[in-house]
Amino acid sequence: MPNKKLIAANWKMNKGLVQSQQFADELKKYFEKYKLTDTEVVLCPPFTSLDAVNKKIAGTPIKLGAQNMYFETIGAYTGEISAGMLKSCGCEYVILGHSERRQYFNETNAIINKKVLKALDEGLKPIVCVGENLQEHEDKLTESVIDEQITVCLSHVSEEGIANVTIAYEPVWAIGTGKNATPHQAESVHNFLRKKLKKMYNDDVSKNTKIIYGGSVTPENAKELFTPQTVNGGLIGGASLEAEKFIKIINASNSK
Ligand code: 13P
Repeated sequence: MPNKKLIAANWKMNKGLVQSQQFADELKKYFEKYKLTDTEVVLCPPFTSLDAVNKKIAGTPIKLGAQNMYFETIGAYTGEISAGMLKSCGCEYVILGHSERRQYFNETNAIINKKVLKALDEGLKPIVCVGENLQEHEDKLTESVIDEQITVCLSHVSEEGIANVTIAYEPVWAIGTGKNATPHQAESVHNFLRKKLKKMYNDDVSKNTKIIYGGSVTPENAKELFTPQTVNGGLIGGASLEAEKFIKIINASNSK
């Protein structure tokens, strides 16, 4: 299993500049007191706060990530943000293929694949989101949906590249609904993902790829959700908006 777990805060379209900075200050205080030995923490604020948060977290182990990016390098793409721009703001990570991007902005697996390849090319670490929606879940299509998502999203990603990819299993029915997957459900899908990685790559990739869970993770359920060995951390939405809650989730991961 990967040597470190990862807890990432996806703030989505929340927090302006001042709120983002306040949160970073609070989290910094925590890191002044505690040393995390086996968990990496990533903040993914909106684009408009990346630079400010980067300045706040300088000198701490907290890492910065973006919530999306475009796959072209430069040019006339009004409103888009490139990998290079993210790097210039201090990003190490980028979330790609979040279900909200798929649902509201028509991102397909093929588009996400282009983004993954570009991110890796530019030295960013993609957090690639996969997961089935409620209908697919009820129709027991989880594995076939995820199989297709992984096949296409990771197409042409080399063995060297995959070492920098984190996969986030986020069942769409669990996102923002308060209805989290059970640890057993998460474990079973994570194991399926590892089998898939073994087929696409090899045993080492299957064992060493970080696979995190997202969907209604809270301070109350985090410890249980992070218990299966195959769950290597979490992608946190709502509960990452308050520093106190987010810190409790970090603690739940670190003390597992
Ligand atoms: P919630 O934690 O609010 O369910 O959101 C999960 C998510 O979408 C993280 O990317």
